[in-house]
Amino acid sequence: MRTIIITGADMGLGFAFAEQYAEEGARVIAGCLNPSGGEIARLAKKYPNLTALKLDVTSDSSMAAFKDKVGDQAVDILINNAGVHYRKWSVPEEVVFADWEHTLQVNTIGPARVSFALRANLAKAGAARLVTISSDWGSVTNHPGTAYDYCSSKAAVNSLMRGMATRWHEDGITILMVHPGWTRTSMGGDNAPSTPEENARSVRKVIESMTTIDNGRYVDNAGIDLPW
Ligand SMILES: NC(=O)c1ccc[n+]([C@@H]2O[C@H](COP(=O)([O-])OP(=O)(O)OC[C@H]3O[C@@H](n4cnc5c(N)ncnc54)[C@H](OP(=O)(O)O)[C@@H]3O)[C@@H](O)[C@H]2O)c1
Repeated sequence: MRTIIITGADMGLGFAFAEQYAEEGARVIAGCLNPSGGEIARLAKKYPNLTALKLDVTSDSSMAAFKDKVGDQAVDILINNAGVHYRKWSVPEEVVFADWEHTLQVNTIGPARVSFALRANLAKAGAARLVTISSDWGSVTNHPGTAYDYCSSKAAVNSLMRGMATRWHEDGITILMVHPGWTRTSMGGDNAPSTPEENARSVRKVIESMTTIDNGRYVDNAGIDLPW
């Protein structure tokens, strides 16, 4: 049975990943800000193979407590999914710097904190996949000209993951950055064309098709390369 860890699984895409992997019978560890409340608690009751654990990706102590519970078991897939996006539709120069700092904490440093803490678990799996949910807005070439905070956080996490990819393949870990597609979630809004279930499914398909040759790629939810 494969073990899969997903961050930010309280709602949205993270929740959909957790549900779909649990449904297919994997051992799922869902990192959540609020594991005992809401929909994820219901899911944990429905699927005995799903455990919801507290994980705030901005906190060293939360990460340490999470890692203690995971222990030294092998982890086949880690999905760095947790993310925030403030003031999406405002004038970008009106960004609140404290929000920008928090965005970097969650979207950029969070995936570093989680990945570094779980590296040995991934290495133990032999051929693990580390997937970071990025965004097409992380592309510097195709910068949308808005959301400086969010875009920079995703461009920076791409840089981080690309750097890690040059080293972690030594541990048999393949790293991928995936734009999930515009998704009808709290972040994506009501006008998004696809549901979290649909886009989690397409991202899972990309993950399943990955081989070591794909290490360090930045792709969309059809597995097509995005410009850096
Ligand atoms: N939706 C889109 O159109 C779209 C497009 C491109 C990329 N993405 C990316 O896809 C990923 C998932 O986004 P989504 O649309 O599903 O967003 P969402 O519905 O807002 O869900 C984000 C999740 O991240 C969690 N989270 C926030 N801060 C956290 C922290 N400090 N520690 C742990 N978890 C935290 C949230 O927890 P709470 O519920 O408790 O706040 C929530 O479960 C993000 O990385 C996002 O940037 C989304």
